[in-house]
Order: sequence, then C-alpha cells, then structure tokens
Amino acid sequence: MNDPTPPAPTPPAPAPPGADRPAETAVRLGGPEYQRAPAALYRDLRRRYGGVAPVLLDGDVPAWLVLGYAELGHVTAHDELFARDSRRWNRWGSVPPDWPLLPFVGHRPSVLFTEGAEHQRRAGVITEALEAVDQFELAHGCRRIAELLVDGFAGCGEAELMARYAHALPMRAAIRMCGLPDRGPDAEELVRDLGVALDVGEGDDPVGAYARVQARIQRLVQDKRAAPGPDVASRMLAHPAALTDEQIVQDLIALIAGAQQPTGNWIGNTLRLLLTDDRFALQVSGGRLSVGQALNEVLWLDTPIQNFIGRWAVRDTTLAGRRIRAGDCLVLGLAAANTDPGIWPDGRVGAENAAHLSFGNGEHRCPYPAPLLADVMARTAVETLLERLPDVVLAVEPEQLAWRPSVWMRGPTELPVRFTPVAG
Ligand code: HEM
Repeated sequence: MNDPTPPAPTPPAPAPPGADRPAETAVRLGGPEYQRAPAALYRDLRRRYGGVAPVLLDGDVPAWLVLGYAELGHVTAHDELFARDSRRWNRWGSVPPDWPLLPFVGHRPSVLFTEGAEHQRRAGVITEALEAVDQFELAHGCRRIAELLVDGFAGCGEAELMARYAHALPMRAAIRMCGLPDRGPDAEELVRDLGVALDVGEGDDPVGAYARVQARIQRLVQDKRAAPGPDVASRMLAHPAALTDEQIVQDLIALIAGAQQPTGNWIGNTLRLLLTDDRFALQVSGGRLSVGQALNEVLWLDTPIQNFIGRWAVRDTTLAGRRIRAGDCLVLGLAAANTDPGIWPDGRVGAENAAHLSFGNGEHRCPYPAPLLADVMARTAVETLLERLPDVVLAVEPEQLAWRPSVWMRGPTELPVRFTPVAG
C-alpha cells in the first residue's frame, strides 16, 4: 500500500509579478489541448504557480484553481474563510446573462449554497435520510435496473454504453431511492428531462426540461406528505429539522443531480479502463477484486468531477503565497490535487487507498453515506455488465475514444462496444 504523506503545505512558488490578480497572468482553463491531456496542463500550472494558479473560465472570467493536495485540504476545511454562497462573488458585474456556467454558479436556495448553521441543518437532513438507505436493497434494485438495461441491447451484439447504461443506471437508481418509480411512462419522461437538464441526454431545451423536473419533484413531495414510504423524500419530510416543502424540492434535485452525473461518469471511466488497459484484461470476467481496483484507480486518476466550482473568499487572505481578495472565486482542482507530486514522491500515483479528494472535503463534502451508495451503484453496474456480456470488447480503437468537452466532468463521450449477442 502506498499511502500519501500527510498533507504538509507544498512550498509556494514565488509569485510572478502582478499575479495576485487572477486576470493578469491567468491561463485559460479548457480548449482541445486540455481535453486531450488535462494532467499536462496541471503539471505546467503547478510548475509555474505552485498550489494555486490564476485561471480564466469560460468568457475569460478570472478565478483561482486550487491544485495542491494540501491547499485544497486547507480551503475545504476552512469554510469560514472560503465559503459556498456564490452571491459573495466580486465578478458578478462582468458575467453575461447567458454565461454557460450559470447553472452551476448561479445561487439557488439549495443545500449546495447554504453556509454555517443553516448548511448543517440542511446537510444533516440529507445525511440522515441517506443513512437509512438499505445498501443490500439498493444493490438489488440496481441489479434489476442493470439487467433491464442490458436486456435492451443484449441481442444486438453492439451498444453505446455511456447513454444506454453508464448514465442511465444511476439516474434510475437515484429517482427510485427518492421514492419515484424507475420505469413506466412517468419515469421515462422524468429520465428524459433529467438527461437534458443535466446535459447527459439529447435535447435542446434544458430550461424547459428543468422546469418539468422541478414540477415532478414538487408533486413527489406533495404525494409523500400525504402518504409517506420507505424512501429518501419521506424521511426528509419527517425529519425534526422541519424543512419547508420548497427546501426539500431543491435539495432532492441537488441530490439526484449530485448522484447521477458523477456516478454515471465513474461507471463510464471504470468500464473504459477495464476495456482498454491490459492489466485488467485477463481478469475482468470473474474478477471482483479487479473491478474494485479499477473503481478506485479511476477515483485517483480520472475522477468524475475533475474540477468543482467552487468556494468564494469571505475576506482578503493569502493562499500558497497568493493574495486572494474578498469575493474571489476558487475552483477546487480535485483531479490536480489527487495527482499532486507532493503526495506521491515516488511517482506511483493511484494507490489502493481512499485518501483522494474526489468526494470533496470538509463541511460541504459529498455527504457521508453518498460515496458508499455511489460505490454500490457503480460496482453493481460494472459487475452486472461483465457477467451478462463476458466477451464484451471495445468496438473502436482506444485512441478513438473522446473525452467529454468539459473541464468539470470527466467521462467518455461514447463507449461503443461489441459482444456475442445473448437473449435478453
Ligand atoms: C462517484 C460519485 C460521486 C462523486 C465523485 C461525488 C463528488 C462530490 C463532490 C466533489 C461534492 C462537492 C464537495 C465540496 O463542495 O467540497 C459533492 C457534493 C454532494 N454530493 Fe456527491 N458525489 C458522488 C455521488 C453522490 C451520490 C450518489 C449522492 C447522493 C445519493 C451525492 C450527493 C451529494 C450532495 C447532496 C452534495 C452536496 C453537499 C453539500 O454541499 O453539503 N453524491 N459530491
């Protein structure tokens, strides 16, 4: 086992002149070179700037990218200094109304943007509602969903796994966990709308799709008030913190989105690794251990949320030698921190431990039971597919696989495979 050294602050690189304002020497985050090899950009930024780099987001909006493992640990552990309410941002004046990152950064009255005692109250309700999820029952439900999805293409001998499997499974598992049906016409409509709203499905009206999702979750909350069941929505409604229906609607949407997108990419990235890397090739069909190793390696090396936006500085401060101004935006560089050479002095990145920062850290980290539930979904998805289609192989050359054009989520755009057709 190769434990990362404890988080000791990496020595800050000397600040280039004028680099205390993100805009002045900032590097654009994105572009074809970045899509191809984000690790190379992180290496370059680390060499030039140390643990915190000035970057430009879409539309050349400046922000800081927190790249260092120790610096990221520090930022996320100090929510009194680096807080979550995006209304603190000192750049709102220069953000256009159609800015593509608005869906992630624009303030919503959900758990994501709350702070302090209010955040503890909201996150506490989610944590307790998720803690009561029976993991065996969840695995059983995921297995059933996985079987049905595989039945949909098993007879064809070929399939595109990202849309039809990797994203579809956690979406259905998450809505089921919340108390919604995972099949039938109502479920199909919700799944379609969620896909469009979360940018993983076909469709050109994400705003309309989001409005329909919200209306459906409102209806769920009303129904569960009237007739509670053994589900996350009912437990949130019954919680003594007495959240309003509107707060629960917001938090259920945050929870479904938070569960679906990263878990779908975790499944996709793990399948990609298993199908392209010789180290796993001989063992995949029966290898429970190797599936676990692949899932863990992906969290270190191709983590589903490579960058997360973000935190906003509460007051002027310094971080890794940089002068951060009140209201500056900090992007959490989860992928960069996981591969920080400061914690991998021997260069062997991706050990069999869970000290990565892929689920965040501190007050706003992915709520404690959620990573376990994601693991149940992802493991069941990968194992079921390999059991049902034991000779599955990629239908294209590995070099032809493309990554999503996103600096936020990391996952293949498509995963075309072929296999011997089997009866559904
Ligand atoms: C591979 C799967 C997953 C990954 C990589 C992941 C990662 C993350 C990250 C990076 C954050 C933000 C942390 C921060 O701001 O410091 C987060 C927050 C959150 N996640 Fe997850 N997550 C996953 C699965 C799930 C699942 C399955 C659920 C629900 C069942 C979930 C629910 C949430 C919620 C509600 C938050 C907001 C927490 C808050 O702001 O207090 N996530 N997750």
